[in-house]
Amino acid sequence: MRNLWASLSLGLASTYASGKDTKPSVQNSNHIFNAIHSSMRQWGSSLIHNGMSLFLATVPKGVELYHGTSEPARINGTEWLAFEPEHALVFARSHRGPPPGRGGPPEPERHPHDDEAWHPPERFDERSRYMPWHGDSACDDLEPRHPRHDDRPLTHTAGQRARARMQHEQQRLFIEENSPEDQSYGYLHTYQPKKDLRLLYIDGQSAAKSDKGTLDMQDIVLLHDNPPPKGADDHPPLREPSKDGHRRPGGPMGEVYRAEKLCELAQTEWQGQIDGFLRMELGFEIILCSFERDLDVKRITRATSQDMGGSSGPGGNGNGLNYYQAVASRFDGIGGHRVTLSYDNFISLFAAEGAMTFNEKKLPRARNDSNIIRTFLTATKEMILQPPTTDPKDWQAVADMVVTKYADRIQYLASGDVDNLKSFKAELRQLLRPFIDYGNRNTTLEIHRCATQYVPELSSSSGVAAVSVLNVATTICSTLSNAAEASTHKEALDRTQSLKSWLAWPIWKRCRGCGYNEVCFVPIWPMGGEQEHEHPRCVSNMSEISRGYWGDRGPGPHHRSKSSNKNDLR
Ligand SMILES: *[C@@H]1O[C@H](CO)[C@@H](O)[C@H](O)[C@H]1NC(C)=O
Ligand SMILES: *[C@@H]1O[C@H](CO)[C@@H](O)[C@H](O)[C@H]1NC(C)=O
Ligand SMILES: *[C@@H]1O[C@H](CO)[C@@H](O)[C@H](O)[C@H]1NC(C)=O
Ligand SMILES: *[C@@H]1O[C@H](CO)[C@@H](O)[C@H](O)[C@H]1NC(C)=O
Repeated sequence: MRNLWASLSLGLASTYASGKDTKPSVQNSNHIFNAIHSSMRQWGSSLIHNGMSLFLATVPKGVELYHGTSEPARINGTEWLAFEPEHALVFARSHRGPPPGRGGPPEPERHPHDDEAWHPPERFDERSRYMPWHGDSACDDLEPRHPRHDDRPLTHTAGQRARARMQHEQQRLFIEENSPEDQSYGYLHTYQPKKDLRLLYIDGQSAAKSDKGTLDMQDIVLLHDNPPPKGADDHPPLREPSKDGHRRPGGPMGEVYRAEKLCELAQTEWQGQIDGFLRMELGFEIILCSFERDLDVKRITRATSQDMGGSSGPGGNGNGLNYYQAVASRFDGIGGHRVTLSYDNFISLFAAEGAMTFNEKKLPRARNDSNIIRTFLTATKEMILQPPTTDPKDWQAVADMVVTKYADRIQYLASGDVDNLKSFKAELRQLLRPFIDYGNRNTTLEIHRCATQYVPELSSSSGVAAVSVLNVATTICSTLSNAAEASTHKEALDRTQSLKSWLAWPIWKRCRGCGYNEVCFVPIWPMGGEQEHEHPRCVSNMSEISRGYWGDRGPGPHHRSKSSNKNDLR
């Protein structure tokens, strides 16, 4: 065991040093480490938004979960649940009355702190907003000959949301605004699981209906044999009925289809062992396959339109900031043990040979290669069907020890602020001192002691988490040790800078010291601009944020193009 362990740690470190990686699990251990570290955390998962990994997750019985809808009656079937009530409240609105605080014809421009700004996806909204009267494909779902969707209440689904918005617009334009009082509000449902929910967590911003790769794990991998039909959002192909004569479920970027097919997979292929799917957008959420089987109603309350109003009163912070604050409160974790992940046996495309690539923007993308995907799906099934691990290790806690210890140190050394070799080496020696036997110097042993400080002993059955965390720790320690022996200041600085860029820890993009009336803003679909992804910043007013990161047009906060972007999916 000791040999295996030593060869792992030392072997992996040297592959980094030589730049010649052999196995993907080794090559991508920095990315796997970051996936572990950012799992169930809104901050890192927002930055590293293309999730390449799947984890088994448990949500304990009794945890409060929220659902916003137009209906006062309990919801059954496959639906969406939020972990934060602010998230669900966005959907707690009537499907008859106009959106709160709105009147008059569609406006060509919206301010980002309007509630509209929170509503995905821009493209669909653009069409519905400007062409509700055209009766084109975007409107088809509203026609009564499709009772399946019409009869369903407006709920926390992107598809239903978009359809409901169409209804608002149509009613506003064609029907008198005569909706009676009792139709002008929505409901916040609070549910509690009847049992521990067993979920499949898809990491990154996996609920972001974007074409940047956030849906790769779902659309390319999990639904490989049933990918959402091209143009499953709002485009003309939707008009054609499928073979069985039924219309295909629509919704922006196939959201309803996706949920139904994922639950079908859970029921058949995975023998009912998965109750739903855990994903993230502006807040973590669950696609729960059967509300009636798994949930008790805790309460159902009527929401006020103020809950959703976009206006900022004097001194108030408006709904936009309030919602983002609720989301940001989970930057460092979902909290309260509301979700437990299994780190011993998660699986990742990063670790599967040839399963992913990095695109020109260095974003990880799943490769649509059937042979590789089938192997990965077999591994997914094995993970789901195997009995629970007896002695689970919290690899995220180990990763945390490494990050909290080294983040500031590495950032300082890589900053160039330490401008001479003597001081640089002094810093490094302070860091390494605890691991050195000054009566018997042995660099190999020193690196080994440093790297294994927090890493539990590995065994031959250690999984990808163990190997990746150990590899990252070893790489840090060996780089620091090498830099401590550098003969020039430039060499020492280069080594620490390349270490920092290889690690790419999300914490290095975190704002420092925002005011209590501010949030550290990072783009979360559908909000934000490129600049803010590069340099998240403190923001006190959502009208300050820019656009464009998710492919919406226009960099400025007050600009929105009318044209819809047709470049959907891939
Ligand atoms: C939902 O399921 C519950 C429990 O099975 C049932 O009592 C209720 O009538 C159902 N509601 C609807 C709208 O179908
Ligand atoms: C993946 O490739 C298959 C076969 O070429 C294709 O039918 C499918 O649409 C692709 N999936 C996605 C999400 O592009
Ligand atoms: C937010 O910014 C907008 C536009 O600059 C301004 O009209 C509004 O008053 C600001 N709100 C707050 C609460 O400062
Ligand atoms: C350093 O320690 C390792 C592991 O115990 C050992 O194999 C190696 O020979 C030592 N090197 C020196 C120079 O003593």
